[in-house]
Amino acid sequence: MNVSHFHLRRWAKALAAVSLAILGALILSAQTDLTGYWAFRVKDGGVNFFQLQQTGDAVASVAPAGRGGSLAGTLKDGKLHLVSTFNMPAGAGRGAAPGAAPAAGAGRGAAPGQARETVYDGVVENANRIAVTMTTTGRDPLKGTFERVTREEAYPTRIPPPDLRDVPDNGLARTPPMGWNSWNKFQDVFDDATVRGVADAMVSSGMAKAGYTYIVVDEGWTSGRDANGKIVGNGKFPNMKALADYVHSKGLKIGTYSSPGPQSCSGKMGGGYQGSFGHELDDALTFAEWGYDYLKYDWCSAGGVYSNTKEDNQGAYQKMGEALLKTGRPIVYSLCQYGSHDVWKWGAKTGGNLWRTTGDIADRWDSMERIGFAQIDIAKYNQVGHWNDPDMLEVGNGGMTADEYRTHMSLWCLLAAPLMAGNDLRTMTEETKSILMNTDVIAIDQDREFKPVYRLSQEGKSEVLVRPVTGDAYAVGLFNRGDAPAEIGFRWDALKFDTGLYGFRRLQAQDLWKHEAVATTGDEFKATVPRHGVVMLKVSVGGGRGF
Ligand code: GLA
Repeated sequence: MNVSHFHLRRWAKALAAVSLAILGALILSAQTDLTGYWAFRVKDGGVNFFQLQQTGDAVASVAPAGRGGSLAGTLKDGKLHLVSTFNMPAGAGRGAAPGAAPAAGAGRGAAPGQARETVYDGVVENANRIAVTMTTTGRDPLKGTFERVTREEAYPTRIPPPDLRDVPDNGLARTPPMGWNSWNKFQDVFDDATVRGVADAMVSSGMAKAGYTYIVVDEGWTSGRDANGKIVGNGKFPNMKALADYVHSKGLKIGTYSSPGPQSCSGKMGGGYQGSFGHELDDALTFAEWGYDYLKYDWCSAGGVYSNTKEDNQGAYQKMGEALLKTGRPIVYSLCQYGSHDVWKWGAKTGGNLWRTTGDIADRWDSMERIGFAQIDIAKYNQVGHWNDPDMLEVGNGGMTADEYRTHMSLWCLLAAPLMAGNDLRTMTEETKSILMNTDVIAIDQDREFKPVYRLSQEGKSEVLVRPVTGDAYAVGLFNRGDAPAEIGFRWDALKFDTGLYGFRRLQAQDLWKHEAVATTGDEFKATVPRHGVVMLKVSVGGGRGF
């Protein structure tokens, strides 16, 4: 073989290889028209569905608005690049005003007014599967897959909710529920060991003794359904029954979380988790079989399968309320649809023991203040067993001062709000413990003869709130919402004691944060209240004659 012949053969081989590669690429790109429905999944994380449309190299989502965000990008040489930009509308999402729903999909967690960008970079493995890395501003990249799914899997059709009727009272939550919930601190980045550790700390810290009972596992525990349609935990929560047994062994109760929609909202890990849509009774029975005592039921993707009418909201919640009753197990039912359609007027009819009245709280003064003080006018809708829920506590999460957290706790207790701690109970400072475990303030929240709070006075940023409590007494909160210390007061005779003997009997007053008696002489009480702070009193009629 001479040299030129050798070269020729090498050239021919190279040519053949290149042609094959071009042909392969052509075949691949001819095969991979991404038009259709796709699920983006992350291991032990959530799922996000997209309807994609490909035109040449261009790929864009045509998903119904609000479902999975909107994507646009390219498919070139088997490489997918999609970008989703989501502008958080001012006032939406975490820390939203009463009634505002959190945004679904890619925008969750962005601060109002901020753009959060999510980029999906993928390598096409075959026509039905793409290996993808998802990168979201401010978060660690996540590896997952795009898998082709049917339209019905991606966007199930509405199942008409039941005709409306009143679900009988389950007899639970005679006082506002107390406990702990994973979301505020951990979002969906936590596991079975975290929850067990928190349950241990609930007992060892004294929280259980102070009344905190329910350990609620919020979004992040499901992976999907088994072949029989039974809901199953993911790698972070491999055995939900064993977890319930453990929590019960500590003398506590346990709660879980689902959605009337096909998926939950979407935490930090890829997308939403399995919801109960179309499996309401199956799931209620499973939760009962595992020994769960509490269900938080979060609207999330239900907006994609129901219409956003009051009837569909009430019907969807009633469906689960009835399912929970059918299990025969006492399960506290916590509605979470952010207060839409004045849920306080009909939540009890669905069997609800508590219902969120607002969008999500954030660990910031402006969020807590806006939510908390907007609750007073609807406090009259509370009834024994059926409570307004202005969202979980942020005490101990680090975003507010001790004065602000004392305001948070005092306000929630005056409102008779559920007290669900949202911090890491395993690592509480003494200050956090003194706030969460102020049993004098908790006693106001838990007062058995419930009477609603009312506003006694408001002057600029100073407010005095009053709640009648058992034993011919009043709880009084003097709140300074302003940015500088303020003197706030009230006249003792503004508290209308039932005895009719007022003026002849001595009043007693206790400062519930200083834990000391307060003089009741003179016509009025006055105190200098720090910025964003509170002075909280319990005033009652003493035995002796005074004045
Ligand atoms: C909603 C709820 C939150 C939490 C998250 C989980 O935003 O309001 O309390 O459950 O969903 O994604």
